[in-house]
Amino acid sequence: MTDIREIAQLGNPVLRQPAEVVTDLDSPETQAIIKALQDTLASTQGVGIAAPQISLSKQIMIIASRPSTRYPHAPMMTPTVMINPSFTALSNDKEKDWEGCLSIPGIRALVPRYKNILVSYTDTNSILVETRLEGFVARIFQHEFDHLNSKVYLDSVEENQDIFSESEYFKIINA
Ligand code: NI
Repeated sequence: MTDIREIAQLGNPVLRQPAEVVTDLDSPETQAIIKALQDTLASTQGVGIAAPQISLSKQIMIIASRPSTRYPHAPMMTPTVMINPSFTALSNDKEKDWEGCLSIPGIRALVPRYKNILVSYTDTNSILVETRLEGFVARIFQHEFDHLNSKVYLDSVEENQDIFSESEYFKIINA
């Protein structure tokens, strides 16, 4: 059975609450959250989702870069569930690129993010994984990680001029 949940929208307090560490990975409750995140993400054109976005304040997120109408130039990857993730920047290099968010429809903005990061997380088999991410996939990671820490991407925008309506964004990327 598909378990598609409603996506919390900007202003909902759950998006401004730090998510709890997951300590019971094998529990039916945690497995149900993972399934709901997978099903909800698959029902959208998004490239990532975090549990607070479905009003569950737990440190679980999925990154799933793929080309779509929302992100036509995104690289293809296997969707990856990350539990209790953390990261460190491998250099101070940041780049600005476009982001949007399922919790903030109709808006896009240019956001500076680290280009190369070392991430660690627990996977769905309870294995601790450490891996390097770069570029757009590193960007998605940092965006979803922010959701677990009570932030949204607009908090990281450098100036208001970097915020666009989605219709203007599509004119730019399709030019
Ligand atoms: Ni988001």
